[in-house]
Amino acid sequence: TEVIIVKNQDEAGSIYAQRVARLIESKPDCVLGLATGSSPLAAYRQLSALVKNDSIDVSQVRGFALDEYAGLDPKHPQSYQSTINRTVVEPLGLDPEKIHVPNGNLSTISEAGHAYDQAIEDAGGVDIQILGIGTDGHIGFNEPGSSLASGTRIKTLTEQTRIDNARFFDDDINQVPTHCITQGIGTILKARHLILLAFGSGKAEAIAETVEGGISSFCPASALQLHRHATVIVDEAAASRLR
Ligand code: F6R
Repeated sequence: TEVIIVKNQDEAGSIYAQRVARLIESKPDCVLGLATGSSPLAAYRQLSALVKNDSIDVSQVRGFALDEYAGLDPKHPQSYQSTINRTVVEPLGLDPEKIHVPNGNLSTISEAGHAYDQAIEDAGGVDIQILGIGTDGHIGFNEPGSSLASGTRIKTLTEQTRIDNARFFDDDINQVPTHCITQGIGTILKARHLILLAFGSGKAEAIAETVEGGISSFCPASALQLHRHATVIVDEAAASRLR
């Protein structure tokens, strides 16, 4: 695993943006793996600035998001569909038809996971997958204990994750969905290049486990060690527990 230590989120974001911009120029219909959460926001901002400055044509770019809440209307402002539209599709000027988010509709969710993995495969696979990491080492919504070979599927959110995410739901845990649909760790590992971003001391333990710990479902992100092209970009605080 390649580890890059940066000064701040903007520096990390510009490394991501440059790699993605180069990819789009060499493969205009490339497939981006997208994440929600706070960690990728600077990267998306840098990428949209670069795309505008260099007049890069993004009209053919395709994308697949990592995860979505189950049973939440996609139009809800906190759905990951809305979040991806707001933070990625609109600022970059992507074609919304080409950007996919797992379908959390409860009536179809049991088949939706397999269909999503098939859609990624039919698109030729993900070229660059951006990832954040939870303080417990989760990637996507794959909490500790998730199979390292898992595909996209429905999962129960942990109490801790629901508490953490209550800030987006009027600080009311009762409004936070109890389930989600998430790409599996096996799905994520199929992407050709993984770029994981982590900032702040709260992520330091998880980053040390990910990069230097044993490969274990207790730290789902440690599966990155199985990948031949994984890049971890961290600030000094998130790197502080590395040896
Ligand atoms: C987001 C996702 C999550 C987050 C992780 C870190 O789609 O799947 O795994 O990447 O919870 O969140 P932030 O970046 O907000 O610290």
